[in-house]
Amino acid sequence: MALIAAGADHAGVQLKDVLVAHLRELGHDVVDCGTHGLDRVDYPDFGEAVARKVAAGEAELGLCVCGTGIGIAIAANKVPGVRAATVHDVTSARLTREHNDANVICLGERLVGPELAKESLEAFLEATFEEGRHVARVAKIDALLPNESAQ
Ligand code: RB5
Repeated sequence: MALIAAGADHAGVQLKDVLVAHLRELGHDVVDCGTHGLDRVDYPDFGEAVARKVAAGEAELGLCVCGTGIGIAIAANKVPGVRAATVHDVTSARLTREHNDANVICLGERLVGPELAKESLEAFLEATFEEGRHVARVAKIDALLPNESAQ
């Protein structure tokens, strides 16, 4: 069982709540970083909140949901040590853990139905990093400087 940080904006909160309940049913512990209602909020705030929990070791893995799963992933990936992946299917969810050592899964409530989201989340949690040839590649990702092109 894992400790998972979860977060979403207003466009992802309903799927986030479904997935948080599902995770708890499966026996996982969840830190729910919000949002908690349908009032409009900004997805970078919740991507950052989840990412900081994972980067600090306060959660083993993260779950982010927005309308597309894209904006919140872009925000989460700004936090060093976080590898957030937007997925739309079970295979991508498994492979991003096995090959990219992704530690945050991102889903789009407007694009992925709740059953597929649950199956994708389970595949992500059950997969493990394959190491081997992937270690050096992930190390290169982690070595990239944030905002290098803007400096
Ligand atoms: C909110 O309308 C929407 O833009 C957001 O949830 C997300 O899809 C952005 O990537």
